[in-house]
This record gives sequence, structure tokens and C-alpha cells, in this order.
Amino acid sequence: MTILLVKSGGPGAIEEWRAAFATVRPDLDVRWWDDPSVDPLAVRYALVWAPEPGRLKTYPNLRLVISSGAGVDHLAGDTMLPDVPIVRLGAPEAVWRMREYVALSVLHLHRLWHRFAANQRARVWDELPNPEAPERRVGVMGLGQLGAAALDALRPFGFPLSGWSRSPKALPGVRCFADMRGLKPFLAQCDILVCLLPATPETNGILNAETFAALPRGASVVNAARGSLLVEADLLAALDSGHLEAAVLDVFETEPLPPDSPLWLHPCITITPHVASFPGRPARARFAAEVITAFEAGRALPNLFDPKRGY
Ligand SMILES: NC(=O)c1ccc[n+]([C@@H]2O[C@H](COP(=O)([O-])OP(=O)(O)OC[C@H]3O[C@@H](n4cnc5c(N)ncnc54)[C@H](OP(=O)(O)O)[C@@H]3O)[C@@H](O)[C@H]2O)c1
Repeated sequence: MTILLVKSGGPGAIEEWRAAFATVRPDLDVRWWDDPSVDPLAVRYALVWAPEPGRLKTYPNLRLVISSGAGVDHLAGDTMLPDVPIVRLGAPEAVWRMREYVALSVLHLHRLWHRFAANQRARVWDELPNPEAPERRVGVMGLGQLGAAALDALRPFGFPLSGWSRSPKALPGVRCFADMRGLKPFLAQCDILVCLLPATPETNGILNAETFAALPRGASVVNAARGSLLVEADLLAALDSGHLEAAVLDVFETEPLPPDSPLWLHPCITITPHVASFPGRPARARFAAEVITAFEAGRALPNLFDPKRGY
């Protein structure tokens, strides 16, 4: 039997992975990463989250690696990756979840929900005037599968929409900006900035003091990408100075977020524990099974990681 090695969710998750694959690819022998009875020569596929650097290289017959999440930063640091295709998670459920998260976060910031929450705790009745959607410009950094889907989800509300990516893009109803030359003009017209970039050497720390200063006064920020993109001290300074209004954060430099982090209790920050888009194991198994089947049939693979680009 063909072995699919799994490192995602810990050893306790392997029975759930087996059950999920049994319904879509019952021919695969699904084994836990550290199962001592696995013959390394029999491993053909790997579904992984943060494998130890160098470990994937030890399976001489490995043909395909699938990342258990949409980001591949947990793999990109492995300097000994095997020369096989690496596919990023792209399950439709992952895209739906991110659409929900971004729509919820943008509406939360647009309608000043953080202020109503604080006022409720203080028993303050204040209508808090705020602009209509056509006066609230929303910009998304990263126009990949998640950024483009997030913009689709925002379209019905009537916000003027814009996006920023590495290469030029054309999306219906979205003002598109590209590369570093487009960054400042893009930021200058974002009242709500949503970050859905991958973590790469170019993007790490991109949500910093300079970026925040380039946003209009009173802008808000959503980071649902990776914690390494945000300079947390710069965000706190921009909120405390009043230049930024509020932030919704799903990802953090250190996860779980340490109890003593000043982010926890900041009145203008809403925190979720890296849950923006985390589809269940059956959905991820379905996606992985489809990728393996496409690979075996010699068809083109979706969401291929490009080591040169870093995402
Ligand atoms: N919080 C969560 O639960 C969660 C869940 C899933 C994913 N994520 C994060 O979301 C990220 C995006 O996922 P995705 O599937 O949408 O990725 P993707 O399809 O690879 O899209 C990445 C987008 O970012 C742009 N980009 C990359 N580097 C750039 C740079 N230096 N400057 C400007 N634009 C740049 C790309 O530009 P081009 O179009 O020009 O290539 C592309 O539009 C993931 O990498 C992951 O970190 C978070």
C-alpha cells in the first residue's frame, strides 16, 4: 500500500485523519509521522504542518508534499526540502472561512463594534456617528486565493475596494495596486486595511510604523495573515497616538499569545486565536486526496509553492 505520512494535529489526530481519508482515498495507508513501523522507502506522500527541517528529505521515494495550512512559511525555512511538488492547502472550506472572517472583521471595524463593546461595559448610551459604506475605503494586501475571495465577500456592502499584490492584477470593481511603488498610494486610500499576505523575507514586518503612518488618520487594521508581518509595538504606538482607530488580530509573533502581552487588554484591539480560516480534517483530507489523485493522473496541481518566490 502507498503510505501517506501525516504530521498535523499531533499523534492523537491520526485516527481522525484515517477516518477522513478512508472516505475519499481508502487505498492510502495513512500513518503518523513518528510511527516507528513505517518503512521510509514506502512513503510516497506527506501531509505536514511544521515538520522538522531536513526530515522530508529522508524519504527517498517521496513524490508529493501537501501543506496542512494555506501558508508554507512553516516549510520555507527548511534548507533541505526534497525536490518534489509542494502544494499549499486550498480547500474551498478554507476560502469560505476566510471570507467570513474578513467580512466580520471589516463590518466590526466599520460599525465601531469595539467602541460599543467598551460603552456597554461602562453602561454608556452613545450612538457614535460613523460614515456609510461608500465613504469607508477597504484595501486588501495580498490578492491570492484568500485576498481575492475576501474582496468578493466585501463587494455587496458597497465599500470602495482596493488591493495590493506583487504582480499587477485586474479584479472587477477593485482598484488594484502592485509592487513597492504601489504600496504608499495604496495605503493612502485605505480606511480599513486587511492583510492577507504570505510570510516571506519581503513581507515580514511590513505592518510597521511607516505603513501605519501612510494610512489615513483614523484607519483600522486587520491581520489574518501571519504574526511575523506585524510589528506589535508599532501597532500599539499607532493606536495609542490616535493615528489608528482599532485593529482585529488573528495571528501573532508568539502563539499562543503570552498572557502578559499588552495586546490582550488594549481597548481598541480584538483578538482571535489563529482561527480565521482553519477547515476541519475531513475538508483538508478531501483536498489532499484530490491533489494526490491529480498528481497520479499527471494533471496540473493547484496552489504550488514556488521556493524562489517564497510562497
Ligand atoms: N489566519 C489564518 O487562519 C490563515 C489561514 C490561511 C492562510 N493564512 C495566511 O494567508 C496567506 C495568504 O494565503 P493565500 O492562499 O491567499 O496566498 P496566495 O494565493 O499565495 O496569495 C498571496 C498574495 O500575496 C501577494 N504577495 C506575496 N508577496 C508579496 C509582496 N512582497 N508584495 C506584494 N504582494 C505580495 C501575492 O502577489 P502575486 O499575486 O503577485 O503573486 C498574492 O497576491 C497565507 O500565506 C497565510 O500566511 C492565514
